[in-house]
Amino acid sequence: MYVIGQLILLLILILVLVPAVYASYTAAPFIPTKKRDIDRIIKLARFKKDDLFLELGAGSGRVMLAIAQKQPEIEVSGIEIHPLLWLIITIRILFNGLGNRVKVKLGSFYQQNLKEAEVIYCFLMPKTMEKLSKKFIRECKRGTRIISRVFPIPGWQARQISTAKNEPSVYLYIIK
Ligand SMILES: C[S@@+](CC[C@H](N)C(=O)[O-])C[C@H]1O[C@@H](n2cnc3c(N)ncnc32)[C@H](O)[C@@H]1O
Repeated sequence: MYVIGQLILLLILILVLVPAVYASYTAAPFIPTKKRDIDRIIKLARFKKDDLFLELGAGSGRVMLAIAQKQPEIEVSGIEIHPLLWLIITIRILFNGLGNRVKVKLGSFYQQNLKEAEVIYCFLMPKTMEKLSKKFIRECKRGTRIISRVFPIPGWQARQISTAKNEPSVYLYIIK
């Protein structure tokens, strides 16, 4: 019994804690975007038919799934490094019958090529936005809209900033 208990603990450690610590160390810990911010994100994105929305560090899938439901004319994709969160998103996609239009990948966004996306959403950390800014310049096509909740991209001029009372700012950048 004792050994089984220890094995379960070890499994929880491997599946939950280790990836969470790794994610926090490399980019950002899991903190979900507030539901009430999603409409502001949609407003900034100005989606067009067949746009690809890509969420870097998709968390529990809250944003990507809400956007897929509210914007039936676009494709939605996310990438998440934490296996448990990835599994949760995968199950949510299936349960919501969105499998034909919504995809989530298990892995690091540093390894993801960004060239296909028309809209990229991030809720990460300042140092991560700085690291990603070089990747955005290298890989994003002209006109790509990059939206960042709370943290601006250091040194970049935002095209638009969405503000709301007692809520964090959401920044829009457009690749030239
Ligand atoms: C602050 S949370 C935001 C979650 C979600 N985007 C939201 O707004 O609700 C950051 C997420 O990024 C994930 N993450 C951290 N580093 C990552 C990496 N290198 N590649 C992919 N995901 C990563 C974390 O596991 C976490 O779920």
